[in-house]
Amino acid sequence: MEEVVTKNEGDKNEWRQDSGKSKASKPKTLNEIESSGEIRIATPDQELNRVLGGGIVPGSLVLIGGEPGIGKSTLMLQIGLALEKAKVLYVSGEESEQQIKMRSERISLKEKSQAANSHENFYMLAETNTKNIFQAIETLEPNLIIIDSIQTLHSHMLESVAGSIGQVRQCAGELMKFAKETNTPVFLVGHITKDGMLAGPKVLEHMVDTVLQFEGDRHLAYRILRTTKNRFGSTSEIGIYEMLGTGLREVSNPSEILISQKDGLLSGVTIGATIEGNRPLLIEIQSLVSAASYGTAQRTPTGFDQKRLNMLLAVLEKRCGFRVGTQDVFVNMAGGIYVEDPAIDLALCISIISSMQEIPVSDKICFAAEIGLGGELRAVNRIDQRISEAEKLGFKEIYISKFSQKSIDLRKTKIEVKSFGKLTEVFGDLFG
Ligand code: TYD
Ligand code: MG
Repeated sequence: MEEVVTKNEGDKNEWRQDSGKSKASKPKTLNEIESSGEIRIATPDQELNRVLGGGIVPGSLVLIGGEPGIGKSTLMLQIGLALEKAKVLYVSGEESEQQIKMRSERISLKEKSQAANSHENFYMLAETNTKNIFQAIETLEPNLIIIDSIQTLHSHMLESVAGSIGQVRQCAGELMKFAKETNTPVFLVGHITKDGMLAGPKVLEHMVDTVLQFEGDRHLAYRILRTTKNRFGSTSEIGIYEMLGTGLREVSNPSEILISQKDGLLSGVTIGATIEGNRPLLIEIQSLVSAASYGTAQRTPTGFDQKRLNMLLAVLEKRCGFRVGTQDVFVNMAGGIYVEDPAIDLALCISIISSMQEIPVSDKICFAAEIGLGGELRAVNRIDQRISEAEKLGFKEIYISKFSQKSIDLRKTKIEVKSFGKLTEVFGDLFG
């Protein structure tokens, strides 16, 4: 482990004393504190507003984590540029001012308004020393600060190198104090891998108000902004973007992109009616089942939990009589999305059997039910929302659990709702 060396024990708060503003907080009664109500700064980016729980909260510290190259800088730059009325300071320790300028020109290409090109309220600063950054902040008095990235910052309070756990924590601490004292929102970019391999910014998760994870397959164009912690909203929201040559595009109708374009029907492909956060999403699942050549059969899910896949395979084997034990099973959620909604279970089981039997399933059918250990179809939440999304997207039939049925008004739906109690009944209906 690294050793944290503090240079000037006596003046830990020097960076604030420099500005002559540092004063100890006094205890207050609740009545003395002015209620800020629900003030939010709505950005022009609907996806960001959604994941933040309705916009940026003044004085909040937001960490945007993600793997290098996924598009964090692009996203932040784009949001900074889009906030035309706010004075934005974009601090970069990773790229030169020229590089950021070039990137901003690329992003601005698609913007219609000429006014947006001048970006008079957008300032950039290539700096890594927090003392210098706070000096710049003092003169500029920005309404929003973006730090790209927290790993490049360095505080003179500590001897350790930039990016070390001590520095990351110290610099974020200084910025947090600033955010709370001045009510200025601060966004911190941090390079984090999905499994938290780059430990640095991981230590910040408990300090910041909101943690957003920017993820997606780097080779695919789609990016998902996921809330993993939010003091000001739900953590189940996701925002979806598409990376274009001219920056990120908000994807407001995600079901369209999560269902791939193809000629004709393929076996092993089904559509699940899921819900992420508040938003129904129809997601395509692809399975490939083939006889295992030797040794233990492989079970490889992408975008789905491995243990849950094993459980569903055991159900297919034990309750439905399919010999999946000797098969390699590959499962993929389209669009690089990770699905946690158990309502995907049914679509996944159908997709596996469709591949194994080489019988395609109509692309006008979708599924929404959880599978229990007994091979029974279990009810899922907000079934009406799933049904209406499927109807909106032109599906003809949706298969659900008969236990979900009582919560819906079937007279209103144009889509045919088929409800079943057991997985074997669904197989009988689909594959005969
Ligand atoms: P970047 O924002 O630099 O990623 P991060 O800050 O998370 O490391 O984005 C990197 C990738 O995005 C890079 O491979 C280039 C690509 N890109 C586009 O495809 N279109 C664009 O308009 C921009 C600015 C970047
Ligand atoms: Mg970057």
